Amino acid sequence: MRSPATGGGAPSRTGLPAVPRSAVVMGVGGWLPPDVVTNDDLAARLDTSDAWIRTRTGIARRHVAGRGTAVSDLAVEAGRRALASAGGPAVDAVVLATMTPDHPVPATAPVVAARLGLDGVPAFDLAATCAGFVYGLASAAGLIAASVAERVLVIGAEVLTGIVDPRDRSLAVLFADGAGAVVLRAGHDEPGALGPVVLGSDGARDDLLYIPGGGSRARAGGLPAGTGGEFLRMRGREIFRNAVERMAESSRRALEAAGWKTGDVDRLVAHQANARILAALGDELEIPADRRPSTIEHTGNTASASIPLLLAETVADGRLRPGHRVLITAFGGGLAWGATTLVWPELPAGH
Ligand code: UT7
Repeated sequence: MRSPATGGGAPSRTGLPAVPRSAVVMGVGGWLPPDVVTNDDLAARLDTSDAWIRTRTGIARRHVAGRGTAVSDLAVEAGRRALASAGGPAVDAVVLATMTPDHPVPATAPVVAARLGLDGVPAFDLAATCAGFVYGLASAAGLIAASVAERVLVIGAEVLTGIVDPRDRSLAVLFADGAGAVVLRAGHDEPGALGPVVLGSDGARDDLLYIPGGGSRARAGGLPAGTGGEFLRMRGREIFRNAVERMAESSRRALEAAGWKTGDVDRLVAHQANARILAALGDELEIPADRRPSTIEHTGNTASASIPLLLAETVADGRLRPGHRVLITAFGGGLAWGATTLVWPELPAGH
């Protein structure tokens, strides 16, 4: 079965055009801020070690935004690279997935659009934590299917170092900063077209990853200032277990909806949360290690940025090539998760 965004075409009963349109990837780009923090740098100020971090997470180093750098700065760089990779098309909508916006109000996407010279286009933020990029793909497919937009820039960008308590060793070693983006255009059943997108959420488990302060719940509850309520809290082991289960389940559903088997998958492009999660997911889906590209060793966990960063890096170094059948999946706090498929296309400007 095809989703409304990807297939079919029934005769119009209204006189309006009734041709469902696919959302087709036509460009990809990533941006990592230049400053790098190694495990040894962290071990110099926290009770941790390079060996613990590598063994438990697969991370060796990570990029961090310097002082004065906000998420819009990273998003603009990634957006610029994705637009260049797409051959510099006119884009008529911008979706920014982030859990670290420049400000609580207003949204950051309009600022990013304006700085990219896209003044006047619809632009909005999307809050789905580490699953934000997959939710962003689904939103872009919807905008295209509804003829709101012909071409959509979807960006995932995070400055997670700003919401992690630098004294919290379990989170400070894991989360980092970065941005990635894709450009999608209206198209048909062709390479680059997103397959059916599967999304899900479970708000009953919102306590597994959350920030207590800064929102209306904290204001209603009178959370006192200075109690650390501005920092991320995570129940790591439960998030770990849910991540593997939910990504595996949504991947299976997305594959089934696309008419693919796991053996058809050339590249598993999964949210880069932790190397052990990626290994467990790959084993669960029986996708061999050489089909599971990863950036986690040098990026850490960049939440909504991790999938487009992985796409951009693997296109650039040739690990992802035209014709590869790609399974994308992500999971994060919310809880929120999702998966989709595509055949990787030739990009107008290469990589
Ligand atoms: O991006 C989507 C959302 N996030 C994720 O998907 C992350 C999911 N969770 C994880 O990646 C892992 O749970 C962590 C990497 C966060 C933690 O790894 P873990 O294997 O689940 O460790 P743990 O939290 O169960 O802690 C094991 C031990 C504890 O010590 P005790 O109680 O056994 O004595 C921790 O205090 O490791 C200790 N520990 C550390 N030790 C050295 C926790 N962090 C560190 C550290 N260095 N940085």
